[in-house]
Amino acid sequence: MTQAVLITGASSGIGEALAREYARRGWKIALAARRAPALAEFRAELRSLGSPEVIALGLDVRDSATIAPALEEADAALGGLDLVIANAGVAHMFAAGTGQIEQMREMIEVNLIGACATVDAAVAIFLRRGRGGHVVGISSMARYRGLARLGIYSATKAGLHRYLQATRMEHAGAGITVTELAPGYIDTPMNRANTSRPFVVGADVAARVMADLIERRVACATVPRWPWMVLGRLMQVLPVPILRRLT
Ligand SMILES: NC(=O)c1ccc[n+]([C@@H]2O[C@H](COP(=O)([O-])OP(=O)(O)OC[C@H]3O[C@@H](n4cnc5c(N)ncnc54)[C@H](OP(=O)(O)O)[C@@H]3O)[C@@H](O)[C@H]2O)c1
Repeated sequence: MTQAVLITGASSGIGEALAREYARRGWKIALAARRAPALAEFRAELRSLGSPEVIALGLDVRDSATIAPALEEADAALGGLDLVIANAGVAHMFAAGTGQIEQMREMIEVNLIGACATVDAAVAIFLRRGRGGHVVGISSMARYRGLARLGIYSATKAGLHRYLQATRMEHAGAGITVTELAPGYIDTPMNRANTSRPFVVGADVAARVMADLIERRVACATVPRWPWMVLGRLMQVLPVPILRRLT
């Protein structure tokens, strides 16, 4: 039977590449992001790549009350969602003491509350239907350690990591799979201005790796696995002066 996926943050970067990957794999797709006109144009390309049905939903995840209705709409329109990917995210770089309260608020509302509310809405649909489902959260290598000038970003991703961990424990018996994918540097508009992007890979490569990991129903993995799997462990124990020099 044809499966259906909903992807938040599908108008750019990783979300856009994931949509192309699932289209090639023949899935029905619900695209969600604020830039609804861009999503509407993207539908035709996804159909030509092999998706039998694509819908586009204008969604601002900071407006958290609209998340569950959007997922319900996609579930009804596509004949049942099998997979929900909470991917929408923002990153702002600044150090503590610079008064960037609005940027802090945006990251917390999008990366943490928005992602958790997306996971919550997906689980509610899967529980009601009673035949399980799969929900994926996109965290980051920054969830392993608070990184300089990425303090709030790191905090939101560590928070999402914990929430996914708890959700996995709560619903393991109900056929609900919870996957966390922690990307290293993926070439997207989010980081193109960075002066250094060690081990960067293209979004299309990352999306293929992610879809394979999702298909294998892994609990948690870095993307790509190598070298980030090892670096994730190292990041947790390296002394601050060395970590500061590396990042
Ligand atoms: N690129 C990397 O190296 C990297 C590394 C680690 C983790 N990640 C994570 O991967 C995810 C995707 O990032 P990316 O690199 O693909 O970034 P991106 O190219 O900047 O795309 C971000 C996406 O999030 C959506 N978004 C932002 N704010 C939103 C809001 N309020 N409501 C709904 N959608 C919103 C954007 O869509 P609209 O603007 O149309 O709403 C866009 O589609 C993020 O969670 C990011 O933290 C990325």
